[in-house]
Amino acid sequence: MASSSQWFETIAEAQRRAKRRLPRSVYSALTAGAESGVTLEDNLTAYRELGFFPRIAAGANTPEIGCQVLGQAMTMPVLISPTGVQAVHPDGEVAVARAAASAGIAMGLSSFASKPIEEVIAANEKLFFQMYWLGSRERIEQLLDRARSAGAKAIILTLDWSFAHRRDWGSPAIPETLDLRAMLKLAPEVLVRPRWLRDYARAGGPPDLGVPNMSRPTGSAPSFFEAYGEWMSTPAPTWSDVEWLCAQWEGPVLVKGVSHPDDARAAVQAGAAAVSVSNHGGNNLDGTPAAIRILPGVVGAVGDDIEVLLDGGIRRGSDVVKALALGARAVMIGRAYLWGLAASGEAGVSNVVEILRSGIIETLNAIDRVAIRDLCPDDLIIPSNFTRAPATSRV
Ligand SMILES: Cc1cc2nc3c(=O)[nH]c(=O)nc-3n(C[C@H](O)[C@H](O)[C@H](O)COP(=O)(O)O)c2cc1C
Repeated sequence: MASSSQWFETIAEAQRRAKRRLPRSVYSALTAGAESGVTLEDNLTAYRELGFFPRIAAGANTPEIGCQVLGQAMTMPVLISPTGVQAVHPDGEVAVARAAASAGIAMGLSSFASKPIEEVIAANEKLFFQMYWLGSRERIEQLLDRARSAGAKAIILTLDWSFAHRRDWGSPAIPETLDLRAMLKLAPEVLVRPRWLRDYARAGGPPDLGVPNMSRPTGSAPSFFEAYGEWMSTPAPTWSDVEWLCAQWEGPVLVKGVSHPDDARAAVQAGAAAVSVSNHGGNNLDGTPAAIRILPGVVGAVGDDIEVLLDGGIRRGSDVVKALALGARAVMIGRAYLWGLAASGEAGVSNVVEILRSGIIETLNAIDRVAIRDLCPDDLIIPSNFTRAPATSRV
């Protein structure tokens, strides 16, 4: 737990601290959001449209909030969503993994993360390795082999990224490596962030911006941009490629980035064990509705066949309860834990997870539910025009 001086009571406060602590480019890379940010904003506002009818004098409860996701027992229905980020904190994903392990929850590790899977899994064995469809099948097999040898319990295959690079408020200029030239260029924004600078100085120097989980068997870690270039030049996969990957892995695969119910059905056919209804935190096609608005349609299509998760916009325990009431088995969090990591490393991530845990319990007590498995849409006040579903189906 964070020391009392570091402790924060909401994720909004964690974000304010992250903004004060991180160099401007790093902070804005986390905030992100494609084009005009319609989806980024809707991911948050949609939760505000949902309400509750609290009950009173229902007696004391300790609600049951544990669940199973992809075969892993979790103490609460919240997982760490994979984020390929650099330069937030020198302990990076290892700090996140430690906090997740102490909380008893699983973690998705991005193939674009800053720490090698072997180090991260040593801190949290409930680890799901996230991949994109990148390179040849042989290259993908190499990545699967490494994840298997490291002990990953599942694969997260993220399929929604469509290389949307335009942001109306401007994308930060991220250097290829932090050499002297890049450091001089970034000096004005880094020098006004002495605590960030001090943390990296103590850890041995500036972040190297490499992606160690993308190394070839006989090579060193490529830079973020080398790996990104390889991904950009790979043709998008088909559902038979997804089926191939599921067969190669021989364990649970979560397909992340589903919006359309037909895609959820195709994921079931391809052999996936789970899908995450997600728009990449609003970083992808702008104008995609909030994941929570699409969730009921996906649950209706495949909820009996596959585990349905959701990510995007979770900032409170009550948001988690809303997603579960609309049919999600569990949710994944992205920026919430990144703000905590930036604010105070492992303690900050633990702080974020505990805010969500206590928020879930308070909400369940207020609506008089003794277990998350009892949640249903009737627990919510849902405006009549809340959900979004495609007009047509191609299957
Ligand atoms: C800075 C950043 C980097 C991300 N990198 C990845 C990634 O490498 N792989 C992936 O599947 N999703 C990635 N995501 C998406 C998250 O896993 C998740 O879908 C999203 O953050 C959820 O929305 P939230 O931030 O509102 O919780 C990234 C998101 C952010 C904000």
